Amino acid sequence: MSTLTKLALGLMGHLRPAPPLGDATRTIALPPADRTGGLPLMAALAARHSSRAFLPQALSPQQLSDLLWAAWGVNRDGGGRTAPSALDAQEIDLYVALPAGAYRYDAPSHALQLVVAQDLRRITGYQDFVDQAPLDLVFVADHTRMSLVPVAQRESYASVAAGAIAQNVYLWCASAGLATVIRAWIDRQAIADALGLPHDHQVLLSQTVGLPSGT
Ligand SMILES: Cc1cc2nc3c(=O)[nH]c(=O)nc-3n(C[C@H](O)[C@H](O)[C@H](O)COP(=O)(O)O)c2cc1C
Repeated sequence: MSTLTKLALGLMGHLRPAPPLGDATRTIALPPADRTGGLPLMAALAARHSSRAFLPQALSPQQLSDLLWAAWGVNRDGGGRTAPSALDAQEIDLYVALPAGAYRYDAPSHALQLVVAQDLRRITGYQDFVDQAPLDLVFVADHTRMSLVPVAQRESYASVAAGAIAQNVYLWCASAGLATVIRAWIDRQAIADALGLPHDHQVLLSQTVGLPSGT
């Protein structure tokens, strides 16, 4: 779907998911993440950049596992995560829009839980490449987990936490030879409606990940 069409549909409040491509399993159990190897940190930083051209082919289960663990996985006893959050509220939920359905990443069990069996990729952003890339992440702040954070600070703190996760994704992609771009030009209401989010959940950002197309 073109950007212009998305903008027009978005203005009317009619930007909707596409029918699913394939059957969505209720739970996708991910293989254990490979916590070793990869590029040295300084080399990954040197390679980090945004890309907006993706091949449609799916990530392997191991790539999906490594991506999600690097982004926002549990990395130590006690439930600590790979990215910081104010007062350890861990208020960010990471949703994964795949062709067969949209899933929520459950970090403690390192698995994906089906939220809706529809293809949400095209509504995760106004840019056209998001439709065909194999996956789009959506960052959602659950404000109910931020009861200890002053109300006036909640959105900015959650945005900082989402930014840290996004950079984890950038660095993992740089290390794994994948392409990615963080995106704020998104229809937050369309995404919230499609995911069935309650009013105290706030869509913040999206991020596309996939093999680079080289164009
Ligand atoms: C908060 C934020 C929002 C962004 N939104 C978009 C977006 O909607 N679409 C897009 O293509 N890039 C988006 N970007 C990516 C920037 O355009 C990109 O990071 C910038 O051009 C620098 O390029 P680099 O990441 O390759 O260094 C966003 C970046 C940030 C930090």
